[in-house]
Order: sequence, then C-alpha cells, then structure tokens
Amino acid sequence: MSFPTVRMRRLRRTAALREMLNQITIQPSNLIYPIFVEEGIKKPIPIASMPGYNRLPVSTVVEEGKAALAQGVKSILLFGIPAKKDEAATSAYAKNGVVQHAIRELKGALGEDLVVIGDVCLCEYMSHGHCGIVENGEVQNDQTLELLGKVAVSYAEAGVDIVAPSAMMDGQVAAIREALDDAGFEQVPIMAYSAKYASGFYGPFREAAESAPQFGNRRSYQMSQGSQQEALREIELDIAEGADMIMVKPALAYLDVIALAKANFNVPVVAYNVSGEYSMVKAAAQNGWIDEKTIIREILTGIKRAGADLIITYHAKDAKIWLNQT
Ligand code: PBG
Repeated sequence: MSFPTVRMRRLRRTAALREMLNQITIQPSNLIYPIFVEEGIKKPIPIASMPGYNRLPVSTVVEEGKAALAQGVKSILLFGIPAKKDEAATSAYAKNGVVQHAIRELKGALGEDLVVIGDVCLCEYMSHGHCGIVENGEVQNDQTLELLGKVAVSYAEAGVDIVAPSAMMDGQVAAIREALDDAGFEQVPIMAYSAKYASGFYGPFREAAESAPQFGNRRSYQMSQGSQQEALREIELDIAEGADMIMVKPALAYLDVIALAKANFNVPVVAYNVSGEYSMVKAAAQNGWIDEKTIIREILTGIKRAGADLIITYHAKDAKIWLNQT
C-alpha cells in the first residue's frame, strides 16, 4: 500500500495531533547544569568565549543552585579553578579546595533537593594542564589513578552526590570505586566519562577553566575521532569497573556513539553537549543568523532521540525560556 492510500500528512494536520504523537520531550529534570567555580575571586567573571556564562565565586553557588531548581533542573556539575596550580594537582584534593568548598555550601543550603556532581580530573589543577601526572613528557597512567581516588574521596567527604571522572586514564573507575568504598562511601555513584573523544569542541571550556595543555595535546588519553568500536569497549570496561552511568562526549558530532551506547548497554546514558557546541549557538544567535530557542530545542531533542537519558548542557540555566514554544 502506498500513495494515494497512504498519506503521511494525515497525522501532521493539527498541533494537537502532532503533540499527541510526539515521542521525545525535553524535561528540565533530565538536564545537568555545569558551573565553573573559581577560588579567591569576589565577583563573577564573564567567560568571553561562552556568552552568558561566568566564572563564579563560591559565595554565589547557592544562588546558582536555586536558579537551577527554579528552572526545574535538579543537578549541578562542578568544575574548579584553583588559585594555585602545581605538578601534583594538590589543590584538586585539598580539604578546603574550591570544589570541596562549593559542595559543602550547596549541600548545606539545598540538601537533597539538588544533586551535586563533582568532575574528577586534574587538568585544571596541574601547572602543565594535562589530566594526569607527567614524567618525561608523558602522562603516567597508574600514578595518576591514586590522585583521582583522592579527589573523589575528598568530594565525598564534602558531601557530593555523584563523582564524574573525566581524565580518560585506564582503570580510573575501578580505582575510584575502590578508594570510595575503602573510605566508607560505597553509596556514592560514579558517572563515568567513558567515551570521551579528543575534540576541538572543548576550546571554550579550556579558556574558561584555564586548563589547556601547555605542551602537546590530549590524544594519548582521549579517544580518536574515527573510532566507534573503541567507544563500546571503553563503555564496557567502565561498566565492568563499576560505573553506574556512562557518558559520551561531545554530543553532536558523536550521535552515532550515543545511539550505540543506548542499544548495547543497560545503564543510563549521559551525553555532554560541550562548550564549543554551546558557543556556536550563542555566536550565531547573537549575529541574528539562527533563532536561538528553536535551535536549542532541536539540538537537545536530537541528542535525546539518539538515546541520551541525561544531557549535560550549558543551556540548562535558561531551560524554561527556550522550552517555551512561543
Ligand atoms: C576535564 C574536562 C574537559 C571538559 C570536561 N571535563 C576539558 C578537556 O578534556 O580538555 C570539556 C567540557 C566542555 O568543553 O564543555 N578533563
């Protein structure tokens, strides 16, 4: 049977019909809102490459958490910018580090209403900007694992709800799980950045977090763009090591990987709609070349349709505004 018996347009005729048949809706509660918290500043500092986004003093994070909740967003992902960087990333696991401080503030004020996630990595805290300990010009995998475990435990001590390791070191999920369990934090879940590709889309983030590598690049630990099976293997390993959720990052250029992750595994799939993806939308919108709200809805619907259960996105803060169809 085909035309004229079949007419696909029959089900598209009215808004009510289209809505009735809609399969994908964006819910603010499925979005995660990333923020940058900087040690030692008094006022928010705008991030030039991420219009509408600031580096925040710890004193403003509770306000940010409340703003997120007012949008229906339930979760914040914390990135820290320390006052001091060194070659052992000591500020990353300091008891009074900037992220640990922010966690305490948020949990103290908002308790169980807000899910606080801490990004576990070292690049923002290392003077050389790499995600692990560097010796002889190379990032050392196994020595780095110990530090990542320390960071996770220090976040847990501060009261974090979820830890999210993003360093792409082999065995990082197992090392963090073990460190958490040994310290009595067996209830703290791990959201693993499992399939994290080496990407040009992280550019604005690195400016924001001052975390660009001072030499070389991240290609010896982050994934190569042309690989698909390798992503499935990374995810499989992370689940075996104890990941409670897995992530694909970036989102837009890797929608196939999101779809494969969803089809192959029974854990929540998280997609990271990264800084460069955000900045491109903002830049085009500022020029009047696209309609910002329409584009944000379309992008996030696409990421969800590909298979993402949760989306980390810088657009989360204005969810109510762009979700409004008018
Ligand atoms: C830390 C980290 C990065 C991002 C999230 N965690 C930067 C990087 O790997 O260089 C990027 C997020 C974004 O671009 O929005 N390793």
